[in-house]
Amino acid sequence: MKKEKERVIGFCCNECAYAAADLAGQLGMKYPVNVRIIRTPCSGTTDPLWVLDGLAQGAKGVFVSGCLPDQCHYGDGNVHMEESVVFLRTLLKAIGINPKHIISYLNSAGMPEAFANSTSDFVKDVLSLPTLPDIKSEVKSADKRERFLEILTAYAKATGKIDKLDEKPIPREGFGMITVDEDKCVSCGSCGYLCETDAITKQETKKHRKMYYAHYLCTGCEACVRACPTEAITVNKEIHLKPFLAKENNQFSGSQLVTCSNCADKFATVAILEKIEDQFELIDSEIISLCPACRRDVIGEDFVNLSRYLEAANIKSEEEAK
Ligand code: FES
Repeated sequence: MKKEKERVIGFCCNECAYAAADLAGQLGMKYPVNVRIIRTPCSGTTDPLWVLDGLAQGAKGVFVSGCLPDQCHYGDGNVHMEESVVFLRTLLKAIGINPKHIISYLNSAGMPEAFANSTSDFVKDVLSLPTLPDIKSEVKSADKRERFLEILTAYAKATGKIDKLDEKPIPREGFGMITVDEDKCVSCGSCGYLCETDAITKQETKKHRKMYYAHYLCTGCEACVRACPTEAITVNKEIHLKPFLAKENNQFSGSQLVTCSNCADKFATVAILEKIEDQFELIDSEIISLCPACRRDVIGEDFVNLSRYLEAANIKSEEEAK
């Protein structure tokens, strides 16, 4: 066996895996001294960041162990855990790290021998792998997502993969890839207003409003999809390593701002007004050129909302046509 300082971390659920490890100890079954076990309530509570961080902090390997299929005491925690491990292994492979440094296996509380054997086999395999790049000093952030990024970026740099990352998306809840149909987007800013992580922001110059999308901040919550009045946005729950690690901040649309003909305040974009003109037949150019506040003064409280005015105008014209 390799020297003891080459550590292996094991996250074990309290109900089965930890109980199996405990029983193995009580029965005098041997498994390598390199292993440090961390007890969790359920394997599904093991955060993927803890696993990655274990490697980043110097462990040679990390395993996660939970209850047998259909026997998780909290429903399907073991299923989520196995999905997380598959995701992490796919990520490691994509950034040039051998995925064998991470593994998952399932045991019941009454399977101490199986636990000891699986653990011994994993430790033997993982200690025979080349040493991982030392990235400890490059991982500093206390913010979860930032730290996740730091670890992946540091490994991708160390392996030389950073400039050759695969374009293939990796499916995963908790991440998102926004696609915007620029023909439909009116740069109204509703999506950015509702985005809680600042993955979508708007910036205004004197003449333009532009929307910016930061892929590495998107959690795939789809608040932007629900906010978009023109159904211009779709979000896929997946991670694209290239823009994610590059922390790219893409401008995905831009429209010229329109100023109120009365007070000269910027109040809408050209794209929004064009949309309204498309949608409604009766357009009073004087009304449409006013901001909501000036419109209130000119046509009254009932028509502060432009679309209500236009709807009423359209209804009126239909009635007149009868
Ligand atoms: Fe063991 Fe959920 S309680 S995996």
